[in-house]
Amino acid sequence: MSEIPKRTQVTIIGGGPAGSLLAHLLHLEGIESVILELRTRQHVLERVRAGVIEHGSAEVLREAGLGNRMDQEGFIHEGVNLAFDERLIRIDFMGLVGKYVIIYGQTELQKDLYQAIETGIIPLVDEAVGIEIHDVGGDRPSISFLRQGNRHALDCDFVVGCDGVHGITRDYIPKSLVQSFERTYPFVWVGVLSSSPPVADELIYANHETGFALCSMRNKQLSRYYVQGSADDQIEDWPDDRFWEALKTRLPQGVSERLVTGPTIEKLVTPLHSWVAEPMSFRRLFLAGDAAHVVPPTGAKGLNLAISDVVYLAEALADHYRTGSMTGLDSYSKAALARVWRAVRFSWWMTTMMHDFSGMADDFDRRLQRTELEYLAASENARRAMAEGYVGPSV
Ligand code: APR
Ligand code: PHB
Repeated sequence: MSEIPKRTQVTIIGGGPAGSLLAHLLHLEGIESVILELRTRQHVLERVRAGVIEHGSAEVLREAGLGNRMDQEGFIHEGVNLAFDERLIRIDFMGLVGKYVIIYGQTELQKDLYQAIETGIIPLVDEAVGIEIHDVGGDRPSISFLRQGNRHALDCDFVVGCDGVHGITRDYIPKSLVQSFERTYPFVWVGVLSSSPPVADELIYANHETGFALCSMRNKQLSRYYVQGSADDQIEDWPDDRFWEALKTRLPQGVSERLVTGPTIEKLVTPLHSWVAEPMSFRRLFLAGDAAHVVPPTGAKGLNLAISDVVYLAEALADHYRTGSMTGLDSYSKAALARVWRAVRFSWWMTTMMHDFSGMADDFDRRLQRTELEYLAASENARRAMAEGYVGPSV
């Protein structure tokens, strides 16, 4: 980055999907922003994350001119499958609600977003450390930070915290105004990216007495698999052999027979956690994406929530700069949270239905879990409700 601006309209803290998409959407509205990102560009571009783009998110990306590579290289999935007891229940999104999802890795989307930022010549200051926000309660907030040992100051009209789960911006909302809601699930997902052809054309979420498993993919030669592990498991506890064995056991035989194992390119352990901080704004500070809420990966809602938050926020900011009104900005938190809680509910429901809670759950819970799956197998209405939740609402 050659020159760091001293003033902008909107300072965006964090250049992940939420921050970089917001900067692009504002640019399309003729609103200036600066992104301050803690890490290097390369680090942000190499992070491996989930890869399910909801129908409405895909439309947002296309409308913003970001859909070309997603449409060429991503895969449209018109349904997903739930496995239990050697059975597969297909949730036919297209047939049930006329929508689909697109499998396109967040890593790829992040590349497209950084490309758009470069094209729009939107200032992205990477390696910005020690960020402090000043006068967040007043009309003229400003930011100070260090880059390569030099101190910088940036004046702006609004500050948006897109700095993810470990970010610092939400601490600027006075504690007395904040209410947090939290649920920690007593297990982790162990995930593997493997250079092998995916076992199936669509995702399979499997409920098995020995634990949950998920078969996903990135492309025809790259598979993404997950198995449920214990809360305190580390990567070392899951050598490849154990991982593949657990995965095979948890899938219906007809599926596991087709499983091709391959070199594991990446292995990670993800805790399952739901957390929402309310409100998502204070005066001229707004939070978006993982900075304000986290959902467990069951149902892959995290990225989609980041997208819907910044769409609402970009619209409210555009309205403000057009008309001078604060109405849209004042109702941002309420509108975003309504959408967030729908996704929290959906991911909680799927997590509860699909995992092994042994030790925590009793026979009553296990019967309920089974009844839920039987209900989905038997009732088109139940499948329609799941399809609606999975593909997500219109943004
Ligand atoms: N200062 C500046 N930037 C920061 C700071 C800080 N103090 N702390 C964190 N960041 C940066 C991170 O380096 C990261 O690039 O903020 C960015 C936050 O990006 P994400 O964690 O990807 O969060 P978000 O953009 O909200 O996207 C949500 O990412 O974590 C997944 O599952 C989640 O898919 C969802 C999506
Ligand atoms: C993934 O492909 O990484 C993925 C897919 C679906 C999920 C979570 C993760 O629910």
